[in-house]
Amino acid sequence: MDIRQVGVVGAGQMGNGIAHVFALAGYDVLMTDISEDSLSKALAVIERNIERQVARGKVMPADKRAALGRIKTTLKLTDLGQCDLIIEAATERETVKQAIFEDLLPHLKPTTILTSNTSSISITRLASRTDRPEKFMGFHFMNPVPVMQLVELIRGIATDQETWDTLHEVVRKLGKTAASAEDFPAFIVNRILMPMINEAVYTLYEGVGSVKSIDESLKLGANHPMGPLELADFIGLDTCLAIMNVLHEGLADTKYRPCPLLTKYVEAGWLGRKTQRGFYDYR
Ligand code: CAA
Repeated sequence: MDIRQVGVVGAGQMGNGIAHVFALAGYDVLMTDISEDSLSKALAVIERNIERQVARGKVMPADKRAALGRIKTTLKLTDLGQCDLIIEAATERETVKQAIFEDLLPHLKPTTILTSNTSSISITRLASRTDRPEKFMGFHFMNPVPVMQLVELIRGIATDQETWDTLHEVVRKLGKTAASAEDFPAFIVNRILMPMINEAVYTLYEGVGSVKSIDESLKLGANHPMGPLELADFIGLDTCLAIMNVLHEGLADTKYRPCPLLTKYVEAGWLGRKTQRGFYDYR
């Protein structure tokens, strides 16, 4: 199936990154969020991030202008009905995602492919609440989207081969690499990454190391680009906790028990970079 017009639901750090890479790859993008303020902030972030790529010679100035011209925004979710592909990148709460798909359904073309950028929620369950589970997939981008090479493609139990092939081709056109994952809690990347981050929080909680020594150990001792606590702040501690809860509940194994210190930080509203405070203080 030919994809031309892409609808992105959510203009946060994942949504604006997704809009960015699709527009640069030549797709028309319609991005929606619940406030004018988040949409204008997202457009400013996209412009700044494409400018970084221009400054480093990775994008031509004319391509920047063309890409920005391809991104339109709307406050009306239902305006996305005529898109060929919808990518839901709203907050990591199942009820929010379900409500978005429910509102969209009556306005969609029969051929529209629905996807969610969820980092852990069951694709099969999200798909089962729509009228097209065979055209529903997990489409999981990594943060920062313009930089990270991988996109996880998650097949729900009912996803058909044509939908998978179409998204696989889209990933190729974005210049990224697809990894195919089956629909089990947190798929591949977060099944492995989040327990490591959670273990880093336990290491801090039990006083084995300080924030600095834990992060330096993994950066200098295991060649990670960011330490696990710095990465947790970057991803958002609420997202990390939500993913650990999905693993804990979905796999019913105590090895996925979220560290109480992670829970406490989230309860305090210390969510990492986005709130200026997490394991590090960004104020
Ligand atoms: N848009 C465009 N370009 C960007 C960018 C953005 N948002 N952020 C960084 N860049 C570019 C920079 O311009 C720079 O480009 P060059 O290589 O051409 O110079 C390059 O990326 C590196 O950036 P910086 O020099 O500013 O900083 P850095 O070298 O410290 O790298 C980083 C920053 C790429 C974020 C690196 O620290 C890194 O790879 N961190 C780990 C990120 C990671 O693990 N992400 C996955 C998280 S898990 C996830 O996303 C799944 C989930 O569901 C939670």
